Amino acid sequence: MVKKLGLGTWSWGNKLFWNYQKNSDNELFEVYKEALNRGYSFIDTADSYGTGKLNGRSEELLGNFLSQTSKVQRNRIQIATKLAPYPWRIGRKGFTLPYKNSLKRLNNNLDIVQLHWSTSRYNPKQELQLLANLCDLNKNGFEFKIGLSNIGPIKLLEIIDFLAKMKRKVYSVQCQFSLLAPNLNQQKKVKKICDDNNINFLAYSPLSFGLLCKDPNSIKTSNQSLLRNLIFNLYDQPTLKLRQALLDIAHDRSVSQAQVAINWCCYQGVIPLIGLRKKEHLIDISRVQKWDLSPTEFQKLDNLSKDISIRLPANPFASK
Ligand SMILES: NC(=O)c1ccc[n+]([C@@H]2O[C@H](COP(=O)([O-])OP(=O)(O)OC[C@H]3O[C@@H](n4cnc5c(N)ncnc54)[C@H](OP(=O)(O)O)[C@@H]3O)[C@@H](O)[C@H]2O)c1
Repeated sequence: MVKKLGLGTWSWGNKLFWNYQKNSDNELFEVYKEALNRGYSFIDTADSYGTGKLNGRSEELLGNFLSQTSKVQRNRIQIATKLAPYPWRIGRKGFTLPYKNSLKRLNNNLDIVQLHWSTSRYNPKQELQLLANLCDLNKNGFEFKIGLSNIGPIKLLEIIDFLAKMKRKVYSVQCQFSLLAPNLNQQKKVKKICDDNNINFLAYSPLSFGLLCKDPNSIKTSNQSLLRNLIFNLYDQPTLKLRQALLDIAHDRSVSQAQVAINWCCYQGVIPLIGLRKKEHLIDISRVQKWDLSPTEFQKLDNLSKDISIRLPANPFASK
């Protein structure tokens, strides 16, 4: 069966964590074109992607690339953004302007609009009003599907009911999901609800920010931001055994460590949203279509993952 793969664009325009440089834009265009050629299913962005003066850069770049794409090619892929429910985006019109701004940056290409995180920790009613706002936009002729992000199982069930009353459906849910993700049991409950309700479950940061691709025998870290280096150093020792197991499987199968980590996600029927900014990485990841993990390989990785007590930081606004 063909696996669905999503292209993540958080790094496009993000200096703080991803050390983005404007002179990489041509390479990003190559990544984008290759994703279309190789049958990727989604491209995921957000209105909060791009740091400081580069705010909105990820959507802008994608909009620019889309404007250079034929309609036939464009229709092969779904464009998804996430709108941030900042505390000041309130009421049933709180998302109207942000939505229109994203639509403009994306050159009128927007298939899925996702709530970026739950507001349940600071204003529990806000997210329902913003979701009602999205339903109103649908009624007023703006066509898109509604998605969620950083939502736990309890909140997800509530929102499914809420949208059903408005004759709308949750189309997709994205959660942090990788061998090092926090609260994996919680994400698995979300996945089960998604399966029961025919909702796409998207696994974000499936490579743990690239940490899972790091060769266990090498100490070299290339041109990374201070913040990303800090995470790589902190997790280096605790993840050594796991990365060695990824590398062993990679060697046995003549594939890359990254492919093994992505196939651990695919084995569980989730759709990985992979952060990509290099064409060779995109081509490499596409090769996960050619092979599957065996149950023994999966179990080995899963056990090693469970043994690691230090998990990646969770989104502070993820709900129960
Ligand atoms: N909803 C949310 O709150 C949320 C949060 C985080 C992410 N996301 C979404 O999920 C997407 C993916 O997550 P992520 O960006 O955190 O990162 P990720 O997919 O976990 O890791 C991406 C990094 O892994 C490295 N990599 C990728 N393919 C590789 C390969 N074949 N070989 C070696 N290294 C490889 C690259 O590092 P280098 O480029 O440095 O080489 C790449 O930038 C984001 O872009 C975003 O769309 C959503």
